[in-house]
Amino acid sequence: MKLTRVGIVGAGQLGRMLALAGYPLGVRCLFLDRGADAPGAQVAPSLIGDLEDAALLAELAARSDVVTFDWENISGGALKPLENITQVRPPRAALEVLQDRLAEKALFTRLRIPVAAHRAIDSREELIQATRKIGLPGVLKTRRLGYDGKGQYVLRAASDIDAAWQAIGGAALIYEGFQEFSRELSLVGARSASGRTVFYPLSCNTHGGGILRYGIAPFANARLERLARQYLKRVMHALDYIGVLTIEFFVVQGRLIANEMAPRVHNSGHWTIEGCVTSQFENHLRAVCDMPLGSTRALGHTAMVNFLGVMPDRERLLAIDGLAYHDYGKAARPGRKLGHCTILKRLPKERDRALSNALKLIAWA
Ligand SMILES: Nc1ncnc2c1ncn2[C@@H]1O[C@H](COP(=O)(O)OP(=O)(O)OP(=O)(O)O)[C@@H](O)[C@H]1O
Ligand SMILES: [Mg+2]
Repeated sequence: MKLTRVGIVGAGQLGRMLALAGYPLGVRCLFLDRGADAPGAQVAPSLIGDLEDAALLAELAARSDVVTFDWENISGGALKPLENITQVRPPRAALEVLQDRLAEKALFTRLRIPVAAHRAIDSREELIQATRKIGLPGVLKTRRLGYDGKGQYVLRAASDIDAAWQAIGGAALIYEGFQEFSRELSLVGARSASGRTVFYPLSCNTHGGGILRYGIAPFANARLERLARQYLKRVMHALDYIGVLTIEFFVVQGRLIANEMAPRVHNSGHWTIEGCVTSQFENHLRAVCDMPLGSTRALGHTAMVNFLGVMPDRERLLAIDGLAYHDYGKAARPGRKLGHCTILKRLPKERDRALSNALKLIAWA
């Protein structure tokens, strides 16, 4: 049977870009999300309601050949019944591991992928112990539901313990040693049900306040790319993964330290829309719908810049040669991802010049 009806849990910008990539393939997407004006709901039909509403999830599954995710934090309990109705891709077990930073780090470690020193924290006492054992500075994070740097607190000194505990204490937490990284890299790849894998070139990402601001790709480092691909492949194989999977890494003294994973298309892969033969969105749909995976070859040198909190002047940005503009159709709010642009050039130095011109026109709020 050909799989062409894709149910997507969550209708954020990732879902929207999946749906848009689906049209030329003849793939029809149906969303489930709370708002009728969600970014995805603006471009494809949507069921409106809570993402964990059992009846709505069942309806989504019944109307889809395969269910996939814009938002990966649906509980395993809510997902399990869907498996009796339709295909769930990526598999539930993969989502469950990646929803919990502690389980995610345990998986990395089992697969001999280096991670930062870390400890589970359930009390203020355990936090004090962890800052002694692992040292300071360090980062205290909620184990679940963090994104864009939310649910995190950087501790510089023992005197920060109280404030950190005040800020996020109570939830299940993890404390990690602070990584003095030279760079942050991410690798996006896709795996089909038959076990075929493809990998995009590395992207080099710059964050501010825990949120991605801009990235450049391909980041050319054959050794790190080979290593990152080995790691991602190991994880994909271990999870019997289907779809796009992303790992974020810190580069510390020339070594890759895995930070976290996302069982979905990722912000650091948006450049692939214009920058590669096949985008991450198309390859995710191809993977979950059992179509052959597409070429991940880069078409040039790209920079991707997020629009955070406020939209820039579209006309002035579009005057930059080789720039593509993406508006997610969201209301402006501080720190919110509202859109992005991608610059595609033939040479790195042309890309760098256009990026610095674009950055003059983009403010982050
Ligand atoms: N242990 C660490 N050492 C140094 N910097 C860190 C550490 N953990 C997180 N950071 C910084 O904060 C950023 C966000 O952290 P992380 O990726 O863990 O959180 P997130 O909120 O899940 O982000 P995302 O939006 O990618 O889902 C990282 O990209 C990095 O810049
Ligand atoms: Mg991250």
